[in-house]
Amino acid sequence: MAEEHGPRKRRVRYKGTHPRHYKEKYKELNPDHYSDDVQKVLERRQTPAGTHVPICVDEILEILKPQPGEIGLDATLGFGGHATQILEKMMPDGCLYGIDVDPIELPNTITRIQNAGYDATQFNARQLNFAGILKLLSETDGFDFILADLGVSSMQIDNPGRGFTFKFEGPLDLRLNPTRGISAAQLLKKSSIKMLTEMLDENADEPYASEISETLFKNRENIETTTQLSDFIKESLSEKAPFLKPEAVKKSLQRCFQAFRIAVNDEFGALDQFLRNLPWCIKPHGRIAVLTFHSGEDHRVLTSFEDGLEKGIYKSISHTPIRPSGQEQYLNPRSTSARLRFAIASENIGDIMNGV
Ligand SMILES: C[S@@+](CC[C@H](N)C(=O)[O-])C[C@H]1O[C@@H](n2cnc3c(N)ncnc32)[C@H](O)[C@@H]1O
Repeated sequence: MAEEHGPRKRRVRYKGTHPRHYKEKYKELNPDHYSDDVQKVLERRQTPAGTHVPICVDEILEILKPQPGEIGLDATLGFGGHATQILEKMMPDGCLYGIDVDPIELPNTITRIQNAGYDATQFNARQLNFAGILKLLSETDGFDFILADLGVSSMQIDNPGRGFTFKFEGPLDLRLNPTRGISAAQLLKKSSIKMLTEMLDENADEPYASEISETLFKNRENIETTTQLSDFIKESLSEKAPFLKPEAVKKSLQRCFQAFRIAVNDEFGALDQFLRNLPWCIKPHGRIAVLTFHSGEDHRVLTSFEDGLEKGIYKSISHTPIRPSGQEQYLNPRSTSARLRFAIASENIGDIMNGV
């Protein structure tokens, strides 16, 4: 076991032989001090608390081909898993910009990457929604490659305080940036049955959207936590679709939480804006990779890339998505739904965008 540094602290108390709750997983939350324990968690095909396992790393490096001297953008920095691998390929004189909308995890990631030895000329990070990437053009004349790995990181999902999952009790928040906008609980209180039904249907294809919406609307004043939301969804399904097997109920819970998350973070609006802005930010022959996790995202990326190909903005795109290998899906079950797409900018992208 790796040695613990600094003054000895009493271990966090928990019931039983293994920590079950997030805050009890003090070893996983301190990977630098407990690397062996973290490795054991990975070998059990789980994601250690407070970390994120990057997905399709080899496939993404193959698409982006980061080179020394280039300037790249990781538009969804997260834990910095992809960024770290990309940076290695760009040294000594490349520069990676990293942005993320999350003000809670971002400082930890910046510190971690800086501590790995990258200075401000090599790694340039800040809090920014990727809808606003045009702002970066005041500092650079475009990027040689751009990566977006959409959705949420494991650190965000696994932290019950952020309310991203029905698996833990927590406030029903689901915001990537909790300092902006309204929480999912507030959104629920402001929504009509029609709005809720549309949200569950359009954001997650929930087959029981209208039944669940009716129950949530009736009980909206009593829903403040993740558990309360999931209990009312389960109650609704057990009344209106009693034949559903537990696995199908779990799928509905996942879809409903996803629908709320997409709504409170305006994820489709941000993605559409990002895709519209990409051609202004990528250099001729530049490489773009986007990793999506559900059909609503993948469809948007495909449509935008196909449109760009037709207009000559992109010279090639992936018509079929690249999937994580069977081994990756086995080792990291969170990668199962991932789909990777690429677009390569044409030589005269600038002229096309400027209508020349
Ligand atoms: C799947 S994680 C990325 C993980 C990262 N690639 C890694 O290897 O650690 C997605 C990240 O995107 C961020 N994100 C989601 N929507 C965003 C947006 N509109 N603008 C910027 N960041 C966003 C989330 O906060 C989260 O940290």
